Amino acid sequence: MPASTWRLRSDAWEYLRFAVKRLALGSDAVEVLASDSEIHRSLRALETIEMYWAGFGQRYVRDIGDLLEAGDYRTALDRIGRVVHRLRGDTVPDEPRDEHLEEQERTELSADSDPRPRFEVLVIDETTAADRDTMRADGLRLRAPADAFIYEFVVVPSADDAVAAVLTNPNILACVVRPGFSDHTHQPLSRDLRESIHLARAQVAEASASARSSLASVQRVLGLADTLAAIRPELDLYLMAGAHIEDLAGALTRRFRRVFWREDQLELHLSLLRRVSHLYDTPFFTAIQGHARRPVGVFHALPVARGGSVVSSKWIRDLVDFYGLNLLLAETSATSGGLDSLLAPTGTIKKAQDLAARAFGAKHTFFVTNGTSTANKIVHQALVAPDDVVMVDRNCHKSHHHAVMLTGARPAYLEAYPLNDFAFYGAVPLDRIKQMLLDYRAAGRLDEVRMVTLTNCTFDGIVYDPERVMAECLAIKPDLVFLWDEAWFAFAAFHPVTRRRTAMAAAKNLEQRLKTPAHAAAHHAQQERLRDADGNPAPDAVWLEERLIPSPDARIRVYATHSTHKTLTALRQGSMIHVYDQEWRREAEEPFHEAYMTHTSTSPNYQILSSLDIGRRQVELEGFELVQRQLDLAASLAQAIARHPLLRRTFRVLTAHDLIPADHRGVGRPMPLRHGLATMWKAWAQDEFVVDPSRITIEISRTGVDGDTFKHEHLMDRYGIQVNKTSGNTVLFMTNIGTSRSAIAYLIEVLVKLAERFEDEQSQRHPEDRLPLEAPMPPLPDFSAFSPGYATDDVLPDGDMRTAFFHGQQRKNIEHVLPEELRARVAAGEQPVSAGFVTPYPPGFPVLVPGQVITSGVLDFMAVLSTREIHGYDPRRGYRIFTETRS
Ligand SMILES: Cc1ncc(COP(=O)(O)O)c(C=O)c1O
Repeated sequence: MPASTWRLRSDAWEYLRFAVKRLALGSDAVEVLASDSEIHRSLRALETIEMYWAGFGQRYVRDIGDLLEAGDYRTALDRIGRVVHRLRGDTVPDEPRDEHLEEQERTELSADSDPRPRFEVLVIDETTAADRDTMRADGLRLRAPADAFIYEFVVVPSADDAVAAVLTNPNILACVVRPGFSDHTHQPLSRDLRESIHLARAQVAEASASARSSLASVQRVLGLADTLAAIRPELDLYLMAGAHIEDLAGALTRRFRRVFWREDQLELHLSLLRRVSHLYDTPFFTAIQGHARRPVGVFHALPVARGGSVVSSKWIRDLVDFYGLNLLLAETSATSGGLDSLLAPTGTIKKAQDLAARAFGAKHTFFVTNGTSTANKIVHQALVAPDDVVMVDRNCHKSHHHAVMLTGARPAYLEAYPLNDFAFYGAVPLDRIKQMLLDYRAAGRLDEVRMVTLTNCTFDGIVYDPERVMAECLAIKPDLVFLWDEAWFAFAAFHPVTRRRTAMAAAKNLEQRLKTPAHAAAHHAQQERLRDADGNPAPDAVWLEERLIPSPDARIRVYATHSTHKTLTALRQGSMIHVYDQEWRREAEEPFHEAYMTHTSTSPNYQILSSLDIGRRQVELEGFELVQRQLDLAASLAQAIARHPLLRRTFRVLTAHDLIPADHRGVGRPMPLRHGLATMWKAWAQDEFVVDPSRITIEISRTGVDGDTFKHEHLMDRYGIQVNKTSGNTVLFMTNIGTSRSAIAYLIEVLVKLAERFEDEQSQRHPEDRLPLEAPMPPLPDFSAFSPGYATDDVLPDGDMRTAFFHGQQRKNIEHVLPEELRARVAAGEQPVSAGFVTPYPPGFPVLVPGQVITSGVLDFMAVLSTREIHGYDPRRGYRIFTETRS
């Protein structure tokens, strides 16, 4: 399976080392070398896998097979050891004592101890073994001591193999296409890999068929270039041609960084290194390091700068001891001398933001040093005005509710589907979003609806199809703006399957799609079904039934906010706003700037900014590797729980079938990635919702403890394992790009110990003792309504939350009422109105907002919440409600 090749490869080499060592030591008899033995199976698998990785290659694996056949176990072991060292990143002995080694292999091996970062370059062409040797020898000859990086070639003969290589080998950062490549592979690839190759190639063939040249040779080259770029946009593509290079250059340059004449090896070498140096470049982080090294006098604020107030102190030197002096040397408020101003960037911060835009596929990117809570407020303020209607996912993070309150926009809350069995919400089905837009249209208020805000993915890992959501909404209102809260989804931009469900990739795809004649024709044809001859719309049912096609003139206006710090390398609070807005210059740039000024500190933390800059470098150079590993490890954790007899009895991993109602999940399997990358690919391409496999929700009812106790008393206090989301009967485990195989193994070990303990406790339980979780959970309440005093009208759900909020801030307007009394009042027919936000953690979104009617459903839900933290609710005094409802 492509997603786990890295693990299979490393396991197969480690196993070979173990098994051949036993042979070499005489601990195992030669029978372990039978042709159906694990040793042979590993060698066969590696012969295919190694074709797609530089350095050793198929010939090397075959030679090991020959050495084993000849009984030369010692030399075979040396050779296997070399690979294992390299895979582990250990240093390799300088003087290999293997007399079978050829000169070139000796040079390659001595390069293993080269400390410079290393990448791989994929060459796609039919070649002979001699061609490949020449190419590698040329590559080594061109290597210079002054080069900042080193690279090696991976040479494959066909387009299929090229796709297999970029799907499995994340070290590849550049591809050189030579027109002599063939189409199909001769390798015995796994079914999953073959299907994934097919999907990758079909996706591009479909998207760009009409835009191709009529020349067959050009088409092949273009098709391959498009496919490789679609899988890994960060790849640097070169075309290297011989005959007709001038003609090809004219037709192809847009897809390739450069077109080279076959002999221009040196130029290619320099271009490869230069491009990686561009990815490696971290303008702001470099400037900070430069600043820290300069002798600077501080006659300004900031006593910690250059350690001033710390290093000479008798009492607080441990700050330096702990964090290191560089932290203080890098603390500055300077905006010149290589540094830059976050509020009006023109230098290194501007450049770092532009590089981040490139990495995340945005038109513009802005760094935010106070988390996505602030990023969301900036975007809301930039795009909406008082009294605009904003359709907001009711379960979105509280920052959106606060932003709506601050802007004076009127929230029309969208309800996500509830997951009552687990006491949390899913996501908002598309037909509800469409229905709400249609309701506004029917009421003649569609022009007031300005923005739709959704959380993708949700905390629990439910992922929308943003391209579909935006396309269908734009078909009803073509100038809508979208804010996708991707606080938990920054990593998704770096894997071909997850990327297509990010807001930026969706915006780009949609933009391209809207430009095609096929789209215009489909739109035109659909309009005939959606409207009568006078332009009157068909009944809503038709609009809900059809997959709506937006007008080619619809505007693509998309914003995404990332808590970069949540899923990628960045210091806490490091966030980004990404923009893909066709109206940016005309409509948004200035208001955005004002909003950014409103919410951004004038003393932004430079360490956070540096970490965003270097985090961007990381994802451009190794994002694919990290995300692939994260997904694979999560799948292996889920699998381990599902297969282990004891774990299976105690815990249940929730699947897409538990987390997404049947109507909204298409044909996807319960855990698509478990069946392979191709299965996940199809589900992510088709289903309305999918589940992010890097998040694993485990249902724990059978443990006899609730989620909160499980989290604090068992995982944290006993074993130091931190998780941050639980519900009454679930615990969410998230993997991230820093998760290692050892961490997964430790978690499994702990779960086994806990399962044993729970089983033991259960067996001693008195039959009359009820399990704490047997008490029925009340359903999660929908947003009730704004009270008539704050509702805009009595038809549509939006209301004036800002006015309600500020009324609620005045003592004279409010009283505190304890839950029992409030319950009695509700039972007596009163409609108490909340004067403020009430936000329990979890779920982390307001159960009540200012101006909202308090119902018995809300009170029931709050009564059984087991959370420790409820913002806006004082357990001693009760709910803060209006003394009088405005009429
Ligand atoms: C969906 C969502 N959006 C925004 C935020 C706020 O992000 P930050 O912690 O970066 O301020 C969170 C925090 O948990 C979140 O879950």
